[in-house]
Amino acid sequence: MNLFNVYQLYDVTPVKATNIFVTDDRGVEYLDLYGGHGVVSIGHSHPHYVSKLKEQLDAIGFYSNAVKNPLQDELAKKLGAVSGCPDYSLFLCNSGAEANENALKLASFYTGKKRVIAFENSFHGRTSVAVSVTDNPKINAPINSTNPKIFLPLNEIDLVEKELAKDDVCAIIIEGIQGVGGLDEGTTAFFQNLEKLCKEYNVVFIVDEVQSGYGRSGRFFAHQYHNIKPDIISVAKGMGNGFPIGGILISSKFKAAYGMLGTTFGGNHLACAAGIAVLEVIEQESLMQNVESISKYFIEEAQRIPQVKNIKGRGLMLGLEFDFEVAELRKKLIYEKHIFTGGANNKKLLRILPPLTVKKEHIDMFFKALKETLNSPLERG
Ligand SMILES: Cc1ncc(COP(=O)(O)O)c(C=O)c1O
Repeated sequence: MNLFNVYQLYDVTPVKATNIFVTDDRGVEYLDLYGGHGVVSIGHSHPHYVSKLKEQLDAIGFYSNAVKNPLQDELAKKLGAVSGCPDYSLFLCNSGAEANENALKLASFYTGKKRVIAFENSFHGRTSVAVSVTDNPKINAPINSTNPKIFLPLNEIDLVEKELAKDDVCAIIIEGIQGVGGLDEGTTAFFQNLEKLCKEYNVVFIVDEVQSGYGRSGRFFAHQYHNIKPDIISVAKGMGNGFPIGGILISSKFKAAYGMLGTTFGGNHLACAAGIAVLEVIEQESLMQNVESISKYFIEEAQRIPQVKNIKGRGLMLGLEFDFEVAELRKKLIYEKHIFTGGANNKKLLRILPPLTVKKEHIDMFFKALKETLNSPLERG
């Protein structure tokens, strides 16, 4: 059987990885400034994470949500404490799309309405409702187009209020910082006004922190820069450091009912062990402080490079914008300098999403390689 060929692959086959480095099947070592789409939070194969997962596998890897699993409570308590959101409750699932799917479903149950306000250039996942509020017609099949939604520009609060006044909206969904779109974000005033209007119109305010959460922005959640409290926060990516796990943090205004949400694999023993280990390392190694200091250093170094026209994002969710498309630059960085970086819908943006354990020496390696590459002839697409 062949694989259904949906991924355009770089010709690299990783077989081993430690912290910020990935080694391929030919023994070549790559500096990982992309963390496999912003997933690797505490570094590849972190020893504490590996031993916790091995221990858990020796004990019990899985049982369904028909029986008690104290690891789920432990994860919820720990997440509440480390994120500064102890007053939310947690529903566990398996991916970012599934988290948003459940967030939107809960919003619709709660309000009895079904229209969603999302934002231009958003990305919320590829499953049914999540993809329908993703601003990319290419990944929306006809079957995804049934639920009503509208995409509005960021930071245009009057347009939001005009839609809310129609009284058919169940939720507003917004990324803490746009990831796939290219690192644009709402202003503090915009986030605060969204929160206020959602209260006024009894609409559920969902912040998608699938990519911007888990310390990546320098705060546990990017929305914490804006001093707001969303009704639902969706998480995934960094939550399991590569083990598939996602979830929604749900404010106390929602009342749970048996069977309202559910999943076979969500919150299984192995996933919880991964999730707990990640939070322990974030705390023990003060990774959010590391994000802040490395981010500052990265930005200072980037400002010295004349070809960099704009620096976007926060923390270790950063983008370097050039006045040319970066596809060729990314290829050169991988094949000649052995450095992984990312792209975005904005084709001129080089996306940087390293493990949160990255150090200055790795940033130095990157900028040395970037300067050499930019100063050599580049076939610009
Ligand atoms: C902001 C955001 N939301 C949701 C998703 C979907 O997550 P997953 O691919 O785990 O379904 C992504 C993935 O890139 C994302 O960046």
